[in-house]
Amino acid sequence: MNYRNYIAEKLKLDGLTEEEVSALILTPPEKEMGDYALPCFKLAKILRKSPNLIAEELAKAYPADEVVVSATALNGYLNFKVNRAALAKETLESIFAAGEKYGSSDIGEGKTVCIDYSSINIAKPFHIGHLSTTVIGGALYRIFKFLGYNAVGINHLGDYGTQFGKLIYAYKKWGDEERVKENGIRELTALYVRYHAEAEKNPAMDDEARHYFKLIEDGDKECNDLFNFFKSLTIKEVEKIYDELGVSFDSYAGESFYNDKMQPIIDELEEKGLLVESEGAKIVDLSDYGMPPCLILRSDGASLYATRDLAAACYRKATYNFDKCLYVVAYQQDLHFKQIFKVLELMGKTWAKDLVHVSYGMVSLLDENGNQVAMSTRNGTVVLLDDVLKRCHEKCLKIIEEKNPNLEDKETVAKIVGTGAVIFGALSNSKIKDVAFSYDKILNFDGETGPYVQYTAARMKSVLRKANGFKPNFDYAMNDEEYELIAKLSEFPDVVKASAEKLEPFFITRYAIEVASLYNKFYFDCKIIGADGGAENFRLALTSAALTVVTNALSLLGIKIPERM
Ligand code: ARG
Repeated sequence: MNYRNYIAEKLKLDGLTEEEVSALILTPPEKEMGDYALPCFKLAKILRKSPNLIAEELAKAYPADEVVVSATALNGYLNFKVNRAALAKETLESIFAAGEKYGSSDIGEGKTVCIDYSSINIAKPFHIGHLSTTVIGGALYRIFKFLGYNAVGINHLGDYGTQFGKLIYAYKKWGDEERVKENGIRELTALYVRYHAEAEKNPAMDDEARHYFKLIEDGDKECNDLFNFFKSLTIKEVEKIYDELGVSFDSYAGESFYNDKMQPIIDELEEKGLLVESEGAKIVDLSDYGMPPCLILRSDGASLYATRDLAAACYRKATYNFDKCLYVVAYQQDLHFKQIFKVLELMGKTWAKDLVHVSYGMVSLLDENGNQVAMSTRNGTVVLLDDVLKRCHEKCLKIIEEKNPNLEDKETVAKIVGTGAVIFGALSNSKIKDVAFSYDKILNFDGETGPYVQYTAARMKSVLRKANGFKPNFDYAMNDEEYELIAKLSEFPDVVKASAEKLEPFFITRYAIEVASLYNKFYFDCKIIGADGGAENFRLALTSAALTVVTNALSLLGIKIPERM
């Protein structure tokens, strides 16, 4: 049950919707005043009365019941006390009943959400720049599924362009199958770099490369075999990292998949009078909308990134009949998506309004001294995601060896915690903010990090292991620490819904931190095992409920919890 909504419904304030009132209600830090409070300062303007008077009038009119037992006015605040025992009973019972499904819902039933995420480029290094789209998209995918949506994860592979002609040229000239099989993307990148170095001296190579690319398009067997070899090699390599990040896809239909699906779109644009010639190229003029033109065909007749995205959007609508289609792509492509969405709208696709660009900020890596690590694909100084993960595992292992040298299977724990730290770190802020990543920061066991939450969860497991089971007992007078933790646990279903609505997995990371710190406060202030009266049973039940909630929250992010750490 959502107490804010419950109160808002009973308050019935003129000029404000229930949702608006609910959003104003907060949980005061000092519980003597109340469990929830409505600050009346913002209402003063709307209602043209003093905050004090508003609070007093509302307090008088509020119909207290067995759920919210009192409403009192104090200094411009309307303070509510809830029936804590009822809240605890309801919350704990629903957590125990739902278990790993606690927080889930069926609000998405019958609705489909396509999520285009990670969308890597073939034969290119999988670097730290791909981290955000991969973990934000992966989290949204799980969150939508958890809410009952039919989620379709799509990896819109960058597998089209003259670079593949260049790669074929380089491979045929200098390539070695065994070496490529063994070293995968690294070897392909090296071939590509070598091509560029040589082509600078010998520009005629570019003609040959273009020819090879044309052969791929024309269905030439040898060229397509090579191209598919590079493609499956890339996917196989990247899937290892996807596995580690708990990420998966329902479709790998990438750019080249739309080779034969663009012509109908181009025809349609033509029919609708949207296609204009400009310097030999075909464009859609968007000047009326304050945007540069959307390029559809180059003067040599070749299609563009945008052309393939138009075809992809139409294909997805026809194939999945989505209610929403999300594109988790960095803000550098803001304009691209604005253009695509506008062109589809001009084509009369009413569903263009259901396309959403989930834009996010850049990830950079800081070195030990806090300086940004320079990255450039050309100079070969990219920071590979694989290396970041390995480095985190190593650092984690070191920390564990210091803190808990006798821990069993330290390597496995270090892997779970190191990977969790990377995912959690990438989701620690509102997605649009740039993220500066430092190993020390994301691995800080006492900071607002993945390891901190995992450590707390492992602590809960250890408490439950040491106990001899428990019988949930709700007839118990809680202290403030216990109540605050339970009240927080009761919010989880709303947090999941809000994170889907706002497309912010960060709501879940922030929430997980809050639960972990409230649990730790409770853990250090309250004796659990061996406590008197009903306290031990109640506190064990609370520990178990908190563990369920943290487990569910982290699993939405793709993060596991070790038994011990
Ligand atoms: N491969 C592209 C890149 O690395 C991202 C593709 C995003 N998805 C899309 N439908 N355009 O920039």
